[in-house]
Amino acid sequence: MIPRLSLSTALRSLIRIVRGRPRVPPSLADNALLQVILNRRSVRSFTAQAIPEDVFAAILEAGRLAPSTVNLQSWAFAAFDADLWRQTFGQSIPFRGNRAVIVVADTYRDRQVLDAFPHSPLVEYTIAVTNASLAAMNMNIAAEALGVSSVMLSETGRSGLLDAKYLQERLGLPEGTVPLMTIVFGYARGPYPPMPPKLPPEQIIFQGRYTPPDRATMDDWLAQMIAGYKASHIRSSFESQLDIYRTKIGQAEADLREMVFYRDRQE
Ligand SMILES: Cc1cc2nc3c(=O)[nH]c(=O)nc-3n(C[C@H](O)[C@H](O)[C@H](O)COP(=O)(O)O)c2cc1C
Repeated sequence: MIPRLSLSTALRSLIRIVRGRPRVPPSLADNALLQVILNRRSVRSFTAQAIPEDVFAAILEAGRLAPSTVNLQSWAFAAFDADLWRQTFGQSIPFRGNRAVIVVADTYRDRQVLDAFPHSPLVEYTIAVTNASLAAMNMNIAAEALGVSSVMLSETGRSGLLDAKYLQERLGLPEGTVPLMTIVFGYARGPYPPMPPKLPPEQIIFQGRYTPPDRATMDDWLAQMIAGYKASHIRSSFESQLDIYRTKIGQAEADLREMVFYRDRQE
């Protein structure tokens, strides 16, 4: 159950969001790569400016060169311009982005030459998800470094894990592949949104044994999530957004089980 916020809690939460800044040691504040990483935001509004071919190629190359378990490279990237996206899905790229990449966890390709994880679909799937996600982040950061903004999507516009089966069919993906997310790329329209509420370091970093979460900090974070969502989506709410996910999650869970454990079915 999502709590209702009093007006004063909502206002206090919004002020905290607006004041939120990355915490960078002053001695490192001018490190260019660190700045790119810390200033990145998920961007959901793009101009019509086209991303040049060489820039998009460099973004894909950053994905190709990402690290992976045993260098298995268990990923595939479906690359789109606006026309190909429209031909494939009958609509514009979400948020009218200029390019998009659907990042796929791919255990099919490796299996043509070796069966690295026989009888261990969960390990195999998890490893592929880990690797493909790292490739996604490499592309995201490379884009940012080249002045191109992006957002990763797993739900909006049937773009990722929650519609994996649909995407698998549309893209003609073989068994052993799972579309995880779409990264939408484009040039940002207007300034970046404020940093969304990030948990403080002491809540997520621990030394030695796991530190249980501090309830007051978590309540505070949730209040910021609710208030921040309302401020940026006047006609919606954090709760109704979660409800949208909940309506899809049952089918997505069933589809995913089928996609991950398909070899059990065949044996
Ligand atoms: C795997 C993944 C899936 C996401 N799916 C969506 C989505 O479907 N729709 C959306 O608007 N944002 C989506 N996001 C963006 C997150 O909402 C965003 O990363 C988060 O709010 C933190 O904001 P920031 O990226 O600006 O730090 C997704 C992000 C990730 C990493």
